[in-house]
Amino acid sequence: MHDQQLIARRKATLAPTYQNFFDEPLHLVRGSGTRLWDAAGRQYLDCYNNVVSVGHCHPHVVDALCKQAATLNTHTRYLHAGIVELGEMLVDKMPGDIDCCVFTCTGSEANDLATQIARHVTGNQGIVVTEASYHGVSELTRRLSTHSYPPEHRPDWLAVIEPPNLYRGPYHRDDPKAGEKYLQLARRALDGLEQRGYKPAAVMIDLVWDSNGPLSPPSDYVLGLCAEIRKRGGLVIADEVQSGYCRSGQNWWRSDFYALQPDILTCGKPMGAGHPLSLMATSREIANNYSRQYHYFNTFGGNPVSAAVGKAVIEVIDNDGLLQNAQETGAYLEAGLRKLAERHPLIGDVQGCGLFWGLDMVSDPDTREPLSEQQMRHLGSLIVEQGVITGTSGRYDQILKLRPPLVFSQTDADTALMAIDNALQELNA
Ligand SMILES: Cc1ncc(COP(=O)(O)O)c(C=O)c1O
Repeated sequence: MHDQQLIARRKATLAPTYQNFFDEPLHLVRGSGTRLWDAAGRQYLDCYNNVVSVGHCHPHVVDALCKQAATLNTHTRYLHAGIVELGEMLVDKMPGDIDCCVFTCTGSEANDLATQIARHVTGNQGIVVTEASYHGVSELTRRLSTHSYPPEHRPDWLAVIEPPNLYRGPYHRDDPKAGEKYLQLARRALDGLEQRGYKPAAVMIDLVWDSNGPLSPPSDYVLGLCAEIRKRGGLVIADEVQSGYCRSGQNWWRSDFYALQPDILTCGKPMGAGHPLSLMATSREIANNYSRQYHYFNTFGGNPVSAAVGKAVIEVIDNDGLLQNAQETGAYLEAGLRKLAERHPLIGDVQGCGLFWGLDMVSDPDTREPLSEQQMRHLGSLIVEQGVITGTSGRYDQILKLRPPLVFSQTDADTALMAIDNALQELNA
């Protein structure tokens, strides 16, 4: 079908809430590994889609999905080995004393449940999140997503803290006390919450601050913030929807990198390599406390097909050494991005870890004025014209984001770097 016709039908049928990336929307019809093909047969390198964690259409995952779909698919109210095996595999990888899983279908559901549990267990109502955060689309998690709605609509029970951005925030990388200073700002926001009559039930932290960056704050900030929340009676919810599953190239979970033992850990996106599978995991004690009063049933969460897919994804990551690949290829990509930043003043900062990098794009390196939304969109389109797919994020939508499948290779990195280099030259011309 002609793309223009499909665009018209899409507009006629779907709500305007759906948006396309790029000036010319991509019409993708096939994927394999880090590659995607459009309807005209053109090949693209995927530098954006972390959901397909082990690469597009990985044969081991597709095989597990097809075999289980052809055998049985029910729900969690019957006995089935799949969900137990997936739970055991995940519990083996969990930080601290987390040893209990609830399977859901989306990150939003996992974070929604985590928030409900934190409120029930602590008896408190306040929730602490970061400015420009994103945690989901349910009524509750949308409120926790300060990037998604105007500040004047924030509920009183929400404390919003400054993102620990060592380039764009008030305290920078060259300040050895930056971590402590960000912490001081967080303490002030927590005092404000308590003055409004709310004690914290939890802090919810995306441990890579995706919607702000990615960011890499010092560990004294992360650990200090969590200690402060606990001191005031709240729990720590590590939202590892973005940061988990080896993305950082250092650990399976970003919590481990910070030596953080969260009370609740949530994940989603990469768990099913495209299949809707997510997780809320916590300690037996917290799970028991919540379960004394509430049952939780999720029609699709943790069904036998999802469990088979979830197991297959973990097997691929472990058997194919994808944590190590994220570390090695990530280091190679980082070096290339830093070289680009030396030559292109439009790149104000390079921040990230493993296979998750953000270029903070500026129109003026001295004032750090973010590149406009229109220029960012144009930059993305110039890159895609060269067959490379990237994304944007950030508090001012000024971050060019690279977050490819974990099977990304050094050759892929070279292709991406060259496309960004060319696009920046063209943007500047
Ligand atoms: C950090 C974080 N948490 C939660 C979510 C929500 O996940 P989902 O879209 O699966 O509901 C997202 C989605 O982008 C996310 O980035």
